[in-house]
Amino acid sequence: MTTPAVFTDSNFAQEGDLVQLQGTGHRSHLIVLEAGAVLQTHRGIIRHDDIIGTPWGTRLESHKGNPFYLLQPSLGDLIKGLKRGTQIMYPKEISYILFHMGIGPGKRVLECGTGSGGLTTALAYMVGDTGRVYSYERKAEIQSLAIKNLSKFRLQNRVEFKLGHAEEGFEERELDAIILDLPNPQDYLHHVRQSLRGGGTLGMILPTFNQVELILKALKEQNFALVEVSEILQRFYKTDWMRLRPVDRMVAHTGFLIFGRKVDRLAGDDEYEQELDSDENNKLD
Ligand SMILES: C[S@@+](CC[C@H](N)C(=O)[O-])C[C@H]1O[C@@H](n2cnc3c(N)ncnc32)[C@H](O)[C@@H]1O
Repeated sequence: MTTPAVFTDSNFAQEGDLVQLQGTGHRSHLIVLEAGAVLQTHRGIIRHDDIIGTPWGTRLESHKGNPFYLLQPSLGDLIKGLKRGTQIMYPKEISYILFHMGIGPGKRVLECGTGSGGLTTALAYMVGDTGRVYSYERKAEIQSLAIKNLSKFRLQNRVEFKLGHAEEGFEERELDAIILDLPNPQDYLHHVRQSLRGGGTLGMILPTFNQVELILKALKEQNFALVEVSEILQRFYKTDWMRLRPVDRMVAHTGFLIFGRKVDRLAGDDEYEQELDSDENNKLD
């Protein structure tokens, strides 16, 4: 089924469009345009009727005279605009997961630990109308929130939301990629192996060293190959060209990203992997 476009080709905002009203500073509102509706903000009221038919990029004003830019939301804006009931993945990790795991149109991807649907939004966006996302969550109320979030973004038709615990395993087979965002992925690698296609990629995010040690041991035992551990540090800058410098505060730690590929690895392949490791180290010279 075709998902109604989140991003229209039209140069004008139309009724039914998901739009972003970006205030000065970083405060913004994501709304679906509806004739007759009104957006109440602490900076004043904006009537949807005054937005419908207006070109993207227009500077609008609330009844108090406060400015808002009319924009089509990017994937990053959608994720920032999610209603949250759990910690969600940061855009820096989401971006690398999509890139490294090759998530794109037509891919069949499973995640376990739907949470508020941050990563789900990105996966659904990327797989397009021809791909599929299978999203498992053990808590019904958290799953409902994710469904609500994805529905607002018109991405819910690309996702099968499943209520279930990872220990019960996954129904799907021959998947291109699986992402586990839960605290103890090492307990479920046998299920992951069953559901991934040959060569498929597993990705995980974990906040502590201790968890990473456990997953590395389990990945070896379950014969995953091309194992990678990384962390992504991102620092934002003030954009005043006369005083260019980093912002005062930064998020120092989010999590470690761990990846592995399902292959027909043999225990004796350790020797070759050590060679690979030292090649990687040479890149730092
Ligand atoms: C940190 S949140 C996931 C956040 C999500 N990736 C996002 O970007 O919004 C972790 C979720 O995993 C769920 N969870 C934890 N262990 C689970 C398990 N064994 N099976 C299914 N879901 C699990 C929790 O209920 C929670 O909602």
